[in-house]
Amino acid sequence: MSDPTQRVYDSILDMLSGPENPTPLLRLNRVSPFKHAKVYAKLEWYNPFGAVKDRVAANLLRDAEERGQEFENLVEPTSGNTGMGLAMLSNAKGYKFTATLSLAIPAEKRAALRAFGANLVELSDELCPMPGAPEGAMARATQMGSQSGWHQLNQYKNPANPDAHFRTTGPEIWKQTQGTITHFVAGLGTCGTITGSGRFLKSQNPGIKVLGVHPAEGHDIPGVRSLRQLKLADFFKPEEYDGLVEIDNKEAYALCRRLNQEESVIAGPSSGMALAGAFKLIPDEPGVVAVVIFPDNAFKYTSSFRKHWPELFPAQAAAPVASPASDILNAVQRHAENSPDVISPADTVELVRQGAVLLDVRTVKEYEDGHIEEALNVPLASITEGSAQGLPADRSQTIVTICGIGKRSLSALLLLKAQGYEKVKSSRGGMLLWNEEKHPLKIT
Ligand SMILES: Cc1ncc(COP(=O)(O)O)c(C=O)c1O
Repeated sequence: MSDPTQRVYDSILDMLSGPENPTPLLRLNRVSPFKHAKVYAKLEWYNPFGAVKDRVAANLLRDAEERGQEFENLVEPTSGNTGMGLAMLSNAKGYKFTATLSLAIPAEKRAALRAFGANLVELSDELCPMPGAPEGAMARATQMGSQSGWHQLNQYKNPANPDAHFRTTGPEIWKQTQGTITHFVAGLGTCGTITGSGRFLKSQNPGIKVLGVHPAEGHDIPGVRSLRQLKLADFFKPEEYDGLVEIDNKEAYALCRRLNQEESVIAGPSSGMALAGAFKLIPDEPGVVAVVIFPDNAFKYTSSFRKHWPELFPAQAAAPVASPASDILNAVQRHAENSPDVISPADTVELVRQGAVLLDVRTVKEYEDGHIEEALNVPLASITEGSAQGLPADRSQTIVTICGIGKRSLSALLLLKAQGYEKVKSSRGGMLLWNEEKHPLKIT
């Protein structure tokens, strides 16, 4: 007796969204600065497991099953929402699910994944797993997925990710707006949403503008990627989009709060970001009908709100909160990221010229594949174990650490400081930024 028009479903799987069972489209009346343009939010937390990524999880699995892939265990690098969808679909379909993910993901999201039955492998990585980070979530998932009886769906490379939106999100919006949509706006993570929905909408009307919103470098908005991170994403197709805009933490969180308080919409931070971008990109003209994707709701972002709105936590603000060691280490790492000890590649060049010791803390293999001539290879693992060779005897010697993307160098900085080295710096963005900014591989 499943009948989506009555919201009656015989199985949780029937609740997955599609043109006959769409997520709501809500007109925003209060926060919009426009006189003429109509702005609609597509409320993706109405998907059965709470986020836009349920569509992707379902389509990745459907695709693997239809191809006849055989597996009992699924593994996926995920910043949370795809994991939630896959965990729940695995429960429904009888698979075991493992998520590899960054320790920087909010604790409440990790707890929810565990509560949903997922096995977690937590690693030092960026909020959104970074391709090319050899010790990161992606590499670990690839390694685990290659075991017999295991399968990695790989939302970052699998065309079934954008295809989920080509089959569902795009057609839903086309139908819900009765073909009147003129502008489509989405925040950018894997870029499955913008690329798949954008392709569908343009196939119906090539005049529809497809617009992307990304966070600023060093952002704190779970689920989305900065331009530097996007350049490594397979489905980032700027040539298919009609506009891109950058939004900073402050703008995103401010609009998120206004959505909550003025519009009574329980949107999360990345919805605030997408809408802030929409307001910058959409022209205020008669006939404009814009649809903005709101990926998920506010309830899993307690940690983010604690950081951006400490006044919401008056009792805890006074008393120290008991925290597991990983959360403390995580916080140390986050504070260190913003400390003056994290320096630009240009400042690294300057310090090395002045006699600083440059330590490349990547693995021997990575170092051998290309390094700065002056850099000494002291892998992070050897510093952690206390077996590092080549560290200066003089604890007052200036040291600069560098790695692939600036994460391991930060851990090395903290470890060296804990060992009594007084002047340790970490080169921001690692070799990735070094090469992007075209600094030479020989400094002096
Ligand atoms: C929570 C969340 N997940 C995912 C995404 C991005 O979707 P996609 O990976 O399809 O680019 C967003 C975009 O704003 C998001 O906020």
